[in-house]
Amino acid sequence: MEHTDVPGDLTETLLTEQQIQGRLRELAAQIEIDYAGRDILLVGVLKGAVMVMADLARSLDRHVEMDWMAISSYGSGTTSSGVVRILKDLDTDLTGRHVIVVEDIIDTGLTLSWLISNLRSRGPASVEIATLLRKPDALQMRVEPKYVGFDIPDAFVVGYGLDFDERYRNLRCIGTLSPHVYS
Ligand code: IMP
Repeated sequence: MEHTDVPGDLTETLLTEQQIQGRLRELAAQIEIDYAGRDILLVGVLKGAVMVMADLARSLDRHVEMDWMAISSYGSGTTSSGVVRILKDLDTDLTGRHVIVVEDIIDTGLTLSWLISNLRSRGPASVEIATLLRKPDALQMRVEPKYVGFDIPDAFVVGYGLDFDERYRNLRCIGTLSPHVYS
């Protein structure tokens, strides 16, 4: 759906579908250069990364494998604690593999930091991160994504896989959610 299908729910459109697709093509081109001659396993984190994974993978003009994990982080309310439980593990053995974790957004980076050390313990050749969005707090964390689509302000955004209460994931653009929706 488009932002016009949810009139008044977004205070602004942060990124249009065209901007997102254009940036993903740039990231894909860089990945092709960096991983020339090496197999890639893209690992997506459900559910937010579904759209990024689909479009990043299709922007790559080469073979890639894809696998998925589902994790839940224990936290109080909206605060992520970094303590994580695996709900669905990978089907793929990571031994010797070049892994790129595909993320929608890095906020505190706590969940991702746990995930990266978990994946590194499985004997991969390399683990890197590609995220479409990064919020300011992520800059203070140890998590260092190799590929970042956009650095965005610290506001709650929805669309393109990102939800509020499981809604707005199918919005084509990314927008800032209006306070009246969640208050
Ligand atoms: P972190 O552990 O704080 O980095 O949490 C990252 C996760 O929080 C993301 O994968 C999203 O599911 C969620 N999240 C963080 N910021 C937003 C936002 O602005 N909109 C929607 N979900 C968000």
